[in-house]
Amino acid sequence: MGATGLIGKDVSASLNEAGHQTVAASRSSGADVLTGEGLAQALDGADVLVDVINSPSFDDEPVMQFFTTATRNLVDAAKSANVGHYVALSIVNCDGLPESGYMRAKVVQERTIVESGLPYTIVRATQFDEFAEGITASLRVDGEVRAPDAPIQPIAAADVAVEVARAAEARRAY
Ligand SMILES: NC(=O)c1ccc[n+]([C@@H]2O[C@H](COP(=O)([O-])OP(=O)(O)OC[C@H]3O[C@@H](n4cnc5c(N)ncnc54)[C@H](OP(=O)(O)O)[C@@H]3O)[C@@H](O)[C@H]2O)c1
Repeated sequence: MGATGLIGKDVSASLNEAGHQTVAASRSSGADVLTGEGLAQALDGADVLVDVINSPSFDDEPVMQFFTTATRNLVDAAKSANVGHYVALSIVNCDGLPESGYMRAKVVQERTIVESGLPYTIVRATQFDEFAEGITASLRVDGEVRAPDAPIQPIAAADVAVEVARAAEARRAY
């Protein structure tokens, strides 16, 4: 789910290359995590659900609404389809930055999966290398660069996708 995204494309390719049969689902394939439309068809016969969806808006309210509704719909659809493993991608220390609306929404996503009763694995990654320009741009304030006194360790999206695919092939973590 989210197979047309930055991570989703690579996860699908990795799993296909390894000989697995995948269903590349997202709105463009007719599966909408917000309305629930197409989820039952996408998950029909699936052993594993890989959740690498993302919200079109990162603003506090829409992003919370997106992950709350989407994850509830995905959990319900996964249960109805007897999916045996829910794999989701989240963010390192998302529960340590409640000032961020996006991180609060990721915490709700994680909690919904953990409390669903479904076997699950949550892979947590740091920021992707691909967003380095966005990160550095956000440090520019009034013509000055204000960098926090803290180390950061981004990771290439392709490396994250490999880990997510590996988790999908492995047994559940919890
Ligand atoms: N950015 C980072 O540095 C970072 C770090 C760690 C973890 N993550 C996590 O990685 C995950 C994937 O991120 P990404 O950058 O690969 O996302 P992305 O490129 O924005 O892709 C988002 C995917 O979600 C799908 N989608 C959006 N709305 C949908 C809907 N209503 N129904 C069904 N599918 C929908 C999109 O497809 P359609 O438009 O076709 O529907 C697309 O396939 C996110 O959960 C994010 O929190 C990101």
